[in-house]
Amino acid sequence: MSLGIRCSSFNGLESMEYGNVLVPTIGANEVLIQVAYAGVNFPDSLIVSGKYQFTPELPFSPGQEVSGKVLQIGKSVDHVAVGDMVMASMTWGGYAEITKAHSNNVYLLPPEIPLDKAAVILETYGTAMHALKDRANLRVGESLAVLGASGGIGSAAIQIGKMFGAQTVAICSTKEKQDQAIANGANIAIGYENLKTQLKQIGIDVIVDPVGGEAAEQSFRSLNSGGRHLVIGFTSGKIPSIPFNLPLLKSASIVGVFWGSFWRESPLANRSNINTILKWFAQGKLDVQIGKTYHLSEAKTALAELVNRQVIGKTVLRVS
Ligand SMILES: NC(=O)c1ccc[n+]([C@@H]2O[C@H](COP(=O)([O-])OP(=O)(O)OC[C@H]3O[C@@H](n4cnc5c(N)ncnc54)[C@H](OP(=O)(O)O)[C@@H]3O)[C@@H](O)[C@H]2O)c1
Repeated sequence: MSLGIRCSSFNGLESMEYGNVLVPTIGANEVLIQVAYAGVNFPDSLIVSGKYQFTPELPFSPGQEVSGKVLQIGKSVDHVAVGDMVMASMTWGGYAEITKAHSNNVYLLPPEIPLDKAAVILETYGTAMHALKDRANLRVGESLAVLGASGGIGSAAIQIGKMFGAQTVAICSTKEKQDQAIANGANIAIGYENLKTQLKQIGIDVIVDPVGGEAAEQSFRSLNSGGRHLVIGFTSGKIPSIPFNLPLLKSASIVGVFWGSFWRESPLANRSNINTILKWFAQGKLDVQIGKTYHLSEAKTALAELVNRQVIGKTVLRVS
């Protein structure tokens, strides 16, 4: 047994209890990890509610990414060894002292990246990179509008968009979040009021949309000809229905982004993306801001703050 967050039902955050959890056993392609830090991500709130794309067997621990030390490797694993410091992602299981990950999602940690930051890179930067590079084919000089720009996906998209030479427009709900987006590198930060008019005045080529709801159609209607609207998530809780004539009239595309299926179907392409991200981090070209650090036992509080939009920067759980 080790300590972790145990969910015995899909009753949302209420089902998260701190206590004893089983130490996982690993297969040939898996790595057992002693967790140092675990990242807190919006999908953790979906999985504990039974609303995620994948449903674990009960009981389970949520948590999609960690940093830590390799305790054991499966017999087919040859790119990391016992004792190595790594960062890793998994669909669930990260909110625990000991977790496991498929070797495809385990990365040797460059010494320049501290353990707390290493636990909050893969999910958001991996998704933003896949979205902008593989799905939008973002080009130098294009304008990039980012909804939910103060959030995990949003702030990663601003930084990666700049690396691709885009002009970035951050959309955030409060002045404090807009200031944070500018500090994060956005060229312009605006609110959600009159979104279509504001974005049309700027002229937008690509939209990063982890929010959905009303903002989705407003921003899609602002796109330039040839624009791409990246559908990433629905933190607003509303999946929008956009009239099918709009993509035709605007000569613009609605493009789905699902990083979880990308790393499963194209592990080598994903590894190449992540290696680029790690290189940029090591060179100081990317940097993630840690907002708050909680102990693993406080995971429920940490996740509640995220869902209630009270977070600026990434939240991380200190585990061991
Ligand atoms: N497609 C994929 O492959 C993939 C991968 C990872 C995550 N996701 C999804 O992407 C979405 C964003 O994840 P994230 O990690 O960036 O989340 P996050 O850190 O919580 O950020 C979400 C942002 O959404 C905005 N928002 C707008 N309306 C909201 C509402 N009603 N409730 C909460 N937030 C609201 C918030 O900014 P304001 O307060 O400024 O509005 C917040 O900063 C989630 O739905 C997640 O499941 C998708």
